[in-house]
Amino acid sequence: MARVCIIDDKDVMRDSLTDILSGQDHEVTTYSDPQRALAELVPSRVDVIISDLKMPEMDGIELLRSLRSRGVDTPFVLMTAYASVSTAVEAMKLGAFDYIQKPFEADTIALVIERAVTLGRLRGENEALRASLRDWADNYELVGMSRAMRQVRNQIDRVAKSQATVLIQGESGTGKELVARAIHAASTRSTGPMLCVNCAALSSNLLESELFGHERGAFTGADKMRKGRFELASGGTLLLDEISEVSLPVQAKLLRVLQEREFERVGSSATIKTDVRVIATTNRDLSDWVARRRFREDLFFRISVLPVALPSLRDRREDIPELADYFLRKIAQREGREPKQFTARAMSLTENYHWPGNVRELENVCERAAVLCQDEKIDGSLIEPWLSSPDVQAETLVRPARPGHLMEDMERALIEQTLVKFNGHREKTAKALGIGVRTLGMKLKRWREEAAAMQQQSQRLAG
Ligand SMILES: Nc1ncnc2c1ncn2[C@@H]1O[C@H](COP(=O)(O)OP(=O)(O)OP(=O)(O)O)[C@@H](O)[C@H]1O
Ligand SMILES: [Mg+2]
Repeated sequence: MARVCIIDDKDVMRDSLTDILSGQDHEVTTYSDPQRALAELVPSRVDVIISDLKMPEMDGIELLRSLRSRGVDTPFVLMTAYASVSTAVEAMKLGAFDYIQKPFEADTIALVIERAVTLGRLRGENEALRASLRDWADNYELVGMSRAMRQVRNQIDRVAKSQATVLIQGESGTGKELVARAIHAASTRSTGPMLCVNCAALSSNLLESELFGHERGAFTGADKMRKGRFELASGGTLLLDEISEVSLPVQAKLLRVLQEREFERVGSSATIKTDVRVIATTNRDLSDWVARRRFREDLFFRISVLPVALPSLRDRREDIPELADYFLRKIAQREGREPKQFTARAMSLTENYHWPGNVRELENVCERAAVLCQDEKIDGSLIEPWLSSPDVQAETLVRPARPGHLMEDMERALIEQTLVKFNGHREKTAKALGIGVRTLGMKLKRWREEAAAMQQQSQRLAG
Protein backbone atom coordinates (compact mmCIF):
# COMPACT_ATOMS: atom_id res chain seq x y z
CA MET A 1 0.00 0.00 0.00
CA ALA A 2 1.40 3.36 -1.03
CA ARG A 3 0.16 6.94 -0.63
CA VAL A 4 -0.11 8.34 -4.13
CA CYS A 5 -0.81 11.92 -5.13
CA ILE A 6 -2.21 12.44 -8.64
CA ILE A 7 -1.98 15.83 -10.33
CA ASP A 8 -3.84 16.17 -13.62
CA ASP A 9 -6.16 18.81 -14.99
CA LYS A 10 -8.43 16.27 -16.75
CA ASP A 11 -11.24 14.82 -14.61
CA VAL A 12 -11.45 11.63 -16.70
CA MET A 13 -7.76 10.90 -16.22
CA ARG A 14 -7.83 11.55 -12.47
CA ASP A 15 -10.92 9.37 -12.01
CA SER A 16 -9.64 6.43 -14.00
CA LEU A 17 -6.23 6.53 -12.32
CA THR A 18 -7.92 6.77 -8.92
CA ASP A 19 -10.00 3.70 -9.78
CA ILE A 20 -6.97 1.70 -10.84
CA LEU A 21 -4.88 2.69 -7.82
CA SER A 22 -7.64 2.26 -5.23
CA GLY A 23 -8.27 -1.15 -6.76
CA GLN A 24 -4.61 -1.94 -6.02
CA ASP A 25 -5.09 -0.88 -2.38
CA HIS A 26 -3.26 2.42 -2.66
CA GLU A 27 -4.38 5.56 -0.85
CA VAL A 28 -5.02 8.32 -3.38
CA THR A 29 -5.26 12.11 -3.17
CA THR A 30 -5.83 14.18 -6.29
CA TYR A 31 -5.33 17.76 -7.45
CA SER A 32 -6.55 19.31 -10.68
CA ASP A 33 -4.39 22.38 -10.19
CA PRO A 34 -0.60 22.04 -9.80
CA GLN A 35 -0.37 25.41 -7.96
CA ARG A 36 -2.74 24.13 -5.36
CA ALA A 37 -0.80 20.89 -5.08
CA LEU A 38 2.36 22.91 -4.49
CA ALA A 39 0.67 24.89 -1.75
CA GLU A 40 -1.07 22.04 0.02
CA LEU A 41 0.96 18.92 -0.46
CA VAL A 42 2.57 17.57 2.72
CA PRO A 43 5.64 15.65 1.58
CA SER A 44 5.73 13.32 4.59
CA ARG A 45 2.20 12.12 3.77
CA VAL A 46 2.95 11.12 0.19
CA ASP A 47 5.09 8.27 -1.12
CA VAL A 48 4.78 8.95 -4.86
CA ILE A 49 3.64 11.89 -6.97
CA ILE A 50 2.21 11.20 -10.43
CA SER A 51 1.76 14.29 -12.56
CA ASP A 52 0.60 15.04 -16.07
CA LEU A 53 3.04 16.92 -18.29
CA LYS A 54 0.69 19.28 -20.11
CA MET A 55 -1.47 21.34 -17.81
CA PRO A 56 -2.73 24.89 -18.45
CA GLU A 57 -1.41 26.76 -15.36
CA MET A 58 1.90 25.06 -14.92
CA ASP A 59 3.38 22.09 -16.73
CA GLY A 60 4.71 18.96 -15.05
CA ILE A 61 8.36 19.89 -15.54
CA GLU A 62 7.84 23.25 -13.89
CA LEU A 63 5.97 21.61 -11.03
CA LEU A 64 8.84 19.18 -10.54
CA ARG A 65 11.34 22.02 -10.56
CA SER A 66 9.37 23.95 -7.93
CA LEU A 67 9.05 20.86 -5.75
CA ARG A 68 12.78 20.14 -5.89
CA SER A 69 13.67 23.76 -5.19
CA ARG A 70 11.57 23.48 -2.03
CA GLY A 71 13.53 20.42 -0.98
CA VAL A 72 10.69 17.95 -1.67
CA ASP A 73 12.38 14.83 -2.98
CA THR A 74 9.38 12.51 -3.12
CA PRO A 75 9.66 10.13 -6.12
CA PHE A 76 7.99 11.87 -9.05
CA VAL A 77 6.46 10.19 -12.09
CA LEU A 78 5.68 12.19 -15.18
CA MET A 79 2.98 11.04 -17.63
CA THR A 80 2.20 12.33 -21.03
CA ALA A 81 0.60 11.44 -24.31
CA TYR A 82 3.25 13.30 -26.26
CA ALA A 83 6.32 11.30 -25.45
CA SER A 84 9.31 13.14 -26.67
CA VAL A 85 12.82 12.13 -25.77
CA SER A 86 13.92 15.66 -24.94
CA THR A 87 11.16 16.19 -22.35
CA ALA A 88 11.92 12.82 -20.84
CA VAL A 89 15.60 13.67 -20.60
CA GLU A 90 14.88 17.04 -19.05
CA ALA A 91 12.53 15.48 -16.51
CA MET A 92 15.12 12.88 -15.56
CA LYS A 93 17.78 15.53 -15.16
CA LEU A 94 15.54 17.34 -12.73
CA GLY A 95 15.27 14.15 -10.77
CA ALA A 96 11.96 12.75 -12.00
CA PHE A 97 11.99 9.14 -11.09
CA ASP A 98 10.01 7.72 -13.98
CA TYR A 99 8.23 8.61 -17.15
CA ILE A 100 5.12 6.91 -18.50
CA GLN A 101 3.33 7.27 -21.74
CA LYS A 102 -0.43 7.48 -22.03
CA PRO A 103 -2.42 5.36 -22.53
CA PHE A 104 -1.00 2.83 -20.07
CA GLU A 105 -2.05 -0.51 -18.63
CA ALA A 106 -2.99 -0.99 -14.96
CA ASP A 107 -0.01 -3.37 -14.62
CA THR A 108 2.46 -0.76 -15.82
CA ILE A 109 1.28 1.77 -13.28
CA ALA A 110 1.42 -0.85 -10.49
CA LEU A 111 5.03 -1.57 -11.36
CA VAL A 112 5.97 2.10 -11.50
CA ILE A 113 4.47 2.70 -8.06
CA GLU A 114 6.21 -0.30 -6.58
CA ARG A 115 9.57 0.92 -7.89
CA ALA A 116 8.95 4.43 -6.62
CA VAL A 117 8.05 3.18 -3.14
CA THR A 118 11.19 1.06 -3.02
CA LEU A 119 13.26 4.06 -4.01
CA GLY A 120 11.69 6.19 -1.30
CA ARG A 121 12.33 3.51 1.29
CA LEU A 122 15.96 3.10 0.23
CA ARG A 123 16.43 6.84 0.45
CA GLY A 124 15.02 6.80 3.97
CA GLU A 125 17.28 3.94 4.97
CA ASN A 126 20.24 5.70 3.47
CA GLU A 127 19.45 8.73 5.53
CA ALA A 128 19.09 6.67 8.69
CA LEU A 129 22.43 5.09 7.94
CA ARG A 130 24.05 8.45 7.47
CA ALA A 131 22.55 9.66 10.71
CA SER A 132 23.88 6.65 12.57
CA LEU A 133 27.28 7.30 11.03
CA ARG A 134 27.06 10.85 12.29
CA ASP A 135 26.17 9.53 15.75
CA TRP A 136 29.08 7.25 15.51
CA ALA A 137 31.37 10.12 14.65
CA ASP A 138 29.95 12.07 17.58
CA ASN A 139 30.79 9.20 19.85
CA TYR A 140 34.44 9.82 19.15
CA GLU A 141 34.19 13.36 20.26
CA LEU A 142 37.32 14.02 22.24
CA VAL A 143 36.48 16.63 24.82
CA GLY A 144 39.13 18.90 26.31
CA MET A 145 40.96 22.01 25.17
CA SER A 146 43.98 21.65 27.44
CA ARG A 147 47.37 21.87 25.79
CA ALA A 148 47.88 18.16 26.26
CA MET A 149 44.58 17.29 24.57
CA ARG A 150 45.23 19.68 21.69
CA GLN A 151 48.50 17.88 21.16
CA VAL A 152 46.73 14.53 21.19
CA ARG A 153 44.32 15.78 18.53
CA ASN A 154 47.21 16.91 16.34
CA GLN A 155 48.83 13.54 16.77
CA ILE A 156 45.62 11.76 15.80
CA ASP A 157 45.46 13.77 12.58
CA ARG A 158 49.06 13.05 11.70
CA VAL A 159 48.94 9.39 12.63
CA ALA A 160 45.66 8.81 10.78
CA LYS A 161 47.33 9.63 7.47
CA SER A 162 49.99 6.99 7.93
CA GLN A 163 49.62 3.20 7.70
CA ALA A 164 52.17 2.45 10.40
CA THR A 165 51.36 0.73 13.67
CA VAL A 166 50.33 3.05 16.47
CA LEU A 167 50.97 2.46 20.15
CA ILE A 168 48.65 4.32 22.48
CA GLN A 169 49.91 4.53 26.03
CA GLY A 170 48.01 5.86 28.97
CA GLU A 171 46.65 5.01 32.39
CA SER A 172 43.40 3.13 32.66
CA GLY A 173 40.39 5.20 31.61
CA THR A 174 42.32 7.96 29.83
CA GLY A 175 40.52 7.34 26.54
CA LYS A 176 42.85 4.97 24.70
CA GLU A 177 40.06 3.12 22.94
CA LEU A 178 38.31 6.37 22.07
CA VAL A 179 41.50 7.68 20.49
CA ALA A 180 42.05 4.41 18.59
CA ARG A 181 38.54 4.70 17.13
CA ALA A 182 39.12 8.33 16.25
CA ILE A 183 42.31 7.37 14.40
CA HIS A 184 40.48 4.70 12.44
CA ALA A 185 37.61 7.08 11.65
CA ALA A 186 40.02 9.74 10.37
CA SER A 187 42.10 7.30 8.33
CA THR A 188 41.70 6.19 4.73
CA ARG A 189 40.49 2.88 6.16
CA SER A 190 37.42 4.38 7.80
CA THR A 191 35.06 2.57 5.43
CA GLY A 192 36.74 -0.73 6.31
CA PRO A 193 36.08 -2.70 9.50
CA MET A 194 37.52 -1.85 12.89
CA LEU A 195 37.88 -4.90 15.09
CA CYS A 196 39.07 -5.09 18.64
CA VAL A 197 40.77 -7.87 20.59
CA ASN A 198 41.31 -7.61 24.32
CA CYS A 199 44.60 -9.43 24.73
CA ALA A 200 44.26 -9.59 28.50
CA ALA A 201 40.96 -11.44 28.39
CA LEU A 202 42.12 -14.57 26.56
CA SER A 203 44.54 -17.39 27.32
CA SER A 204 47.56 -17.64 25.04
CA ASN A 205 46.04 -20.42 22.89
CA LEU A 206 42.67 -18.79 22.57
CA LEU A 207 44.26 -15.46 21.71
CA GLU A 208 46.32 -17.11 18.99
CA SER A 209 43.28 -18.61 17.33
CA GLU A 210 41.29 -15.42 17.85
CA LEU A 211 43.98 -13.43 16.03
CA PHE A 212 44.95 -15.86 13.29
CA GLY A 213 41.98 -18.23 13.08
CA HIS A 214 42.17 -22.02 12.95
CA GLU A 215 41.44 -24.92 10.67
CA ARG A 216 38.87 -27.51 11.49
CA GLY A 217 40.40 -30.09 13.83
CA ALA A 218 43.40 -27.91 14.67
CA PHE A 219 42.82 -28.68 18.35
CA THR A 220 40.19 -30.36 20.48
CA GLY A 221 36.99 -28.42 20.18
CA ALA A 222 37.90 -26.86 16.82
CA ASP A 223 34.94 -28.43 15.04
CA LYS A 224 34.72 -25.67 12.43
CA MET A 225 37.18 -23.58 10.48
CA ARG A 226 37.29 -20.10 11.93
CA LYS A 227 38.75 -16.95 10.44
CA GLY A 228 40.91 -14.86 12.71
CA ARG A 229 40.77 -11.15 13.35
CA PHE A 230 43.73 -10.44 11.10
CA GLU A 231 41.77 -11.96 8.23
CA LEU A 232 38.42 -10.35 9.11
CA ALA A 233 39.88 -6.89 9.62
CA SER A 234 41.54 -6.86 6.20
CA GLY A 235 41.15 -3.43 4.64
CA GLY A 236 40.51 -1.96 8.05
CA THR A 237 42.01 -1.56 11.49
CA LEU A 238 42.71 -4.06 14.24
CA LEU A 239 42.87 -2.77 17.80
CA LEU A 240 45.03 -4.91 20.09
CA ASP A 241 43.95 -3.79 23.52
CA GLU A 242 46.42 -4.32 26.37
CA ILE A 243 49.15 -5.68 24.15
CA SER A 244 51.52 -6.09 27.13
CA GLU A 245 49.49 -9.18 28.08
CA VAL A 246 50.34 -11.13 24.92
CA SER A 247 52.45 -14.23 25.66
CA LEU A 248 55.94 -14.50 24.18
CA PRO A 249 55.05 -17.21 21.61
CA VAL A 250 52.13 -15.14 20.29
CA GLN A 251 54.37 -12.05 20.29
CA ALA A 252 56.64 -13.88 17.81
CA LYS A 253 53.68 -14.51 15.53
CA LEU A 254 52.56 -10.91 15.85
CA LEU A 255 55.98 -9.69 14.85
CA ARG A 256 55.86 -11.78 11.70
CA VAL A 257 52.44 -10.58 10.61
CA LEU A 258 53.48 -6.98 11.21
CA GLN A 259 56.67 -7.43 9.20
CA GLU A 260 55.55 -9.71 6.40
CA ARG A 261 51.82 -8.94 6.31
CA GLU A 262 51.14 -12.65 6.18
CA PHE A 263 50.32 -15.48 8.54
CA GLU A 264 48.84 -18.97 8.75
CA ARG A 265 45.75 -20.14 10.55
CA VAL A 266 46.41 -22.43 13.50
CA GLY A 267 46.67 -25.99 12.14
CA SER A 268 47.24 -24.90 8.56
CA SER A 269 50.30 -24.37 6.38
CA ALA A 270 48.56 -22.18 3.81
CA THR A 271 49.86 -18.62 3.98
CA ILE A 272 47.26 -15.86 4.06
CA LYS A 273 48.01 -12.28 3.04
CA THR A 274 46.41 -9.50 4.98
CA ASP A 275 46.16 -5.73 4.79
CA VAL A 276 45.50 -4.59 8.33
CA ARG A 277 46.52 -1.50 10.20
CA VAL A 278 47.29 -2.33 13.81
CA ILE A 279 46.70 -0.03 16.74
CA ALA A 280 47.90 -1.30 20.09
CA THR A 281 47.13 0.05 23.53
CA THR A 282 48.80 -0.44 26.86
CA ASN A 283 48.54 1.02 30.33
CA ARG A 284 51.97 -0.26 31.27
CA ASP A 285 55.41 1.03 30.59
CA LEU A 286 56.31 -1.35 27.78
CA SER A 287 59.99 -0.39 27.74
CA ASP A 288 60.17 -1.58 31.32
CA TRP A 289 58.61 -4.87 30.21
CA VAL A 290 61.23 -5.11 27.51
CA ALA A 291 63.95 -4.60 30.14
CA ARG A 292 62.39 -7.38 32.21
CA ARG A 293 62.23 -9.63 29.13
CA ARG A 294 58.48 -9.98 29.26
CA PHE A 295 58.07 -8.18 25.97
CA ARG A 296 60.13 -8.71 22.81
CA GLU A 297 62.30 -5.76 22.02
CA ASP A 298 61.94 -6.17 18.24
CA LEU A 299 58.15 -6.21 18.56
CA PHE A 300 58.28 -3.17 20.82
CA PHE A 301 60.24 -1.24 18.16
CA ARG A 302 57.83 -2.42 15.48
CA ILE A 303 54.71 -1.24 17.24
CA SER A 304 56.05 1.96 18.73
CA VAL A 305 56.86 3.66 15.43
CA LEU A 306 54.08 6.14 16.14
CA PRO A 307 53.54 6.45 19.87
CA VAL A 308 50.65 8.45 21.27
CA ALA A 309 50.83 9.16 25.00
CA LEU A 310 47.55 10.05 26.67
CA PRO A 311 47.86 12.34 29.69
CA SER A 312 46.18 11.30 32.91
CA LEU A 313 43.26 13.46 33.98
CA ARG A 314 45.09 14.85 37.01
CA ASP A 315 47.69 16.28 34.63
CA ARG A 316 45.09 18.26 32.71
CA ARG A 317 42.68 19.40 35.37
CA GLU A 318 41.55 22.34 33.26
CA ASP A 319 39.57 19.83 31.15
CA ILE A 320 37.53 18.59 34.12
CA PRO A 321 34.68 21.17 34.01
CA GLU A 322 34.19 20.71 30.29
CA LEU A 323 34.27 16.93 30.57
CA ALA A 324 31.84 16.92 33.50
CA ASP A 325 29.49 19.19 31.61
CA TYR A 326 29.78 17.00 28.51
CA PHE A 327 28.92 13.82 30.45
CA LEU A 328 26.01 15.44 32.31
CA ARG A 329 24.57 16.65 29.02
CA LYS A 330 25.07 13.26 27.39
CA ILE A 331 23.30 11.48 30.25
CA ALA A 332 20.43 13.99 30.22
CA GLN A 333 20.03 13.54 26.48
CA ARG A 334 19.88 9.79 26.88
CA GLU A 335 17.25 10.05 29.63
CA GLY A 336 15.37 12.77 27.78
CA ARG A 337 15.47 15.47 30.47
CA GLU A 338 17.24 18.69 31.35
CA PRO A 339 20.92 18.34 32.20
CA LYS A 340 21.95 18.76 35.84
CA GLN A 341 24.82 20.93 36.91
CA PHE A 342 27.41 20.75 39.65
CA THR A 343 27.35 23.41 42.34
CA ALA A 344 30.53 25.45 42.68
CA ARG A 345 31.59 23.30 45.63
CA ALA A 346 31.00 20.05 43.78
CA MET A 347 32.97 21.39 40.83
CA SER A 348 35.87 22.40 43.01
CA LEU A 349 35.89 18.92 44.58
CA THR A 350 36.13 17.30 41.16
CA GLU A 351 38.87 19.69 40.08
CA ASN A 352 40.98 18.87 43.12
CA TYR A 353 40.52 15.12 43.22
CA HIS A 354 43.32 12.98 41.77
CA TRP A 355 41.15 10.69 39.56
CA PRO A 356 43.03 7.38 39.63
CA GLY A 357 40.43 5.99 37.19
CA ASN A 358 40.78 9.06 34.96
CA VAL A 359 38.03 10.06 32.52
CA ARG A 360 36.09 6.84 33.01
CA GLU A 361 35.89 7.48 36.75
CA LEU A 362 34.69 11.04 36.14
CA GLU A 363 32.06 9.70 33.73
CA ASN A 364 30.87 7.23 36.39
CA VAL A 365 30.66 9.93 39.04
CA CYS A 366 28.59 12.12 36.72
CA GLU A 367 26.33 9.22 35.89
CA ARG A 368 25.72 8.30 39.53
CA ALA A 369 25.21 11.90 40.51
CA ALA A 370 22.69 12.49 37.72
CA VAL A 371 20.70 9.45 38.80
CA LEU A 372 20.76 10.10 42.52
CA CYS A 373 20.44 13.87 42.62
CA GLN A 374 16.89 14.95 43.41
CA ASP A 375 17.59 18.66 43.24
CA GLU A 376 18.37 20.95 40.36
CA LYS A 377 22.06 21.13 41.15
CA ILE A 378 24.41 18.38 42.20
CA ASP A 379 25.97 19.32 45.49
CA GLY A 380 29.39 18.40 46.80
CA SER A 381 27.90 16.41 49.69
CA LEU A 382 26.49 13.90 47.22
CA ILE A 383 29.68 13.18 45.34
CA GLU A 384 32.25 13.66 48.10
CA PRO A 385 31.97 10.09 49.46
CA TRP A 386 32.78 8.68 46.02
CA LEU A 387 35.93 10.64 45.50
CA SER A 388 38.48 8.29 46.94
CA SER A 389 40.82 5.91 45.18
CA PRO A 390 40.14 2.16 45.48
CA ASP A 391 42.74 1.66 48.22
CA VAL A 392 41.36 4.57 50.19
CA GLN A 393 37.90 3.11 49.65
CA ALA A 394 38.97 -0.15 51.24
CA GLU A 395 40.05 1.87 54.22
CA THR A 396 36.70 3.63 54.54
CA LEU A 397 35.13 0.24 55.11
CA VAL A 398 36.79 0.20 58.52
CA ARG A 399 37.12 3.92 59.00
CA PRO A 400 33.86 5.69 58.24
CA ALA A 401 33.75 9.13 56.66
CA ARG A 402 32.25 10.37 59.93
CA PRO A 403 33.72 8.71 63.03
CA GLY A 404 31.13 6.70 64.90
CA HIS A 405 28.80 6.37 61.92
CA LEU A 406 30.19 3.24 60.27
CA MET A 407 26.85 1.41 59.97
CA GLU A 408 25.03 4.38 58.60
CA ASP A 409 27.73 5.33 56.10
CA MET A 410 27.92 1.78 54.83
CA GLU A 411 24.17 1.56 54.60
CA ARG A 412 24.07 4.77 52.65
CA ALA A 413 26.78 3.60 50.26
CA LEU A 414 24.95 0.32 49.71
CA ILE A 415 21.63 2.03 49.08
CA GLU A 416 23.18 4.49 46.66
CA GLN A 417 24.98 1.80 44.73
CA THR A 418 21.77 -0.18 44.45
CA LEU A 419 19.82 2.88 43.33
CA VAL A 420 22.38 3.45 40.59
CA LYS A 421 22.12 -0.16 39.53
CA PHE A 422 18.34 0.20 39.12
CA ASN A 423 18.62 3.60 37.49
CA GLY A 424 17.03 5.42 40.39
CA HIS A 425 13.97 3.11 40.46
CA ARG A 426 12.92 3.08 44.12
CA GLU A 427 10.58 0.04 44.09
CA LYS A 428 13.20 -2.18 42.49
CA THR A 429 15.92 -0.87 44.79
CA ALA A 430 13.86 -1.45 47.91
CA LYS A 431 12.94 -4.93 46.76
CA ALA A 432 16.56 -5.84 46.01
CA LEU A 433 17.64 -4.60 49.45
CA GLY A 434 14.79 -6.32 51.24
CA ILE A 435 13.39 -3.15 52.77
CA GLY A 436 10.13 -1.29 52.26
CA VAL A 437 9.80 1.51 49.72
CA ARG A 438 8.62 3.82 52.50
CA THR A 439 11.68 3.05 54.61
CA LEU A 440 13.89 3.74 51.61
CA GLY A 441 12.05 6.99 50.91
CA MET A 442 12.44 8.11 54.53
CA LYS A 443 16.16 7.41 54.54
CA LEU A 444 16.70 9.29 51.29
CA LYS A 445 14.68 12.20 52.58
CA ARG A 446 16.70 12.36 55.78
CA TRP A 447 20.01 12.32 53.92
CA ARG A 448 18.76 15.01 51.59
CA GLU A 449 17.76 17.19 54.52
CA GLU A 450 21.08 16.60 56.21
CA ALA A 451 22.90 17.54 53.04
CA ALA A 452 20.84 20.71 52.68
CA ALA A 453 21.53 21.65 56.28
CA MET A 454 25.24 21.06 55.79
CA GLN A 455 25.20 23.17 52.67
CA GLN A 456 23.45 26.02 54.49
CA GLN A 457 25.91 25.77 57.30
CA SER A 458 28.90 25.90 54.97
CA GLN A 459 27.36 28.86 53.14
CA ARG A 460 26.94 30.67 56.46
CA LEU A 461 30.53 29.92 57.31
CA ALA A 462 31.70 31.09 53.92
CA GLY A 463 29.57 34.18 53.80
N1 LIG B 1 38.64 13.19 25.97
C1 LIG B 1 37.49 12.52 26.17
N2 LIG B 1 36.32 13.10 25.83
C2 LIG B 1 35.17 12.45 26.02
N3 LIG B 1 35.05 11.23 26.55
C3 LIG B 1 36.18 10.59 26.92
C4 LIG B 1 37.45 11.21 26.75
N4 LIG B 1 38.38 10.36 27.19
C5 LIG B 1 37.74 9.27 27.63
N5 LIG B 1 36.41 9.38 27.46
C6 LIG B 1 35.38 8.40 27.87
O1 LIG B 1 35.86 7.73 29.02
C7 LIG B 1 35.59 6.35 28.98
C8 LIG B 1 36.88 5.57 29.04
O2 LIG B 1 37.59 5.72 27.81
P1 LIG B 1 38.33 4.49 27.10
O3 LIG B 1 37.57 3.23 27.23
O4 LIG B 1 38.71 4.93 25.74
O5 LIG B 1 39.62 4.43 28.04
P2 LIG B 1 40.83 3.39 28.03
O6 LIG B 1 42.06 4.19 28.17
O7 LIG B 1 40.72 2.48 26.87
O8 LIG B 1 40.57 2.62 29.38
P3 LIG B 1 41.14 1.16 29.86
O9 LIG B 1 42.60 1.28 30.01
O10 LIG B 1 40.44 0.95 31.15
O11 LIG B 1 40.73 0.20 28.78
C9 LIG B 1 34.81 6.12 27.71
O12 LIG B 1 33.44 6.11 27.99
C10 LIG B 1 35.19 7.29 26.83
O13 LIG B 1 34.17 7.59 25.94
MG1 LIG C 1 40.42 0.38 26.80
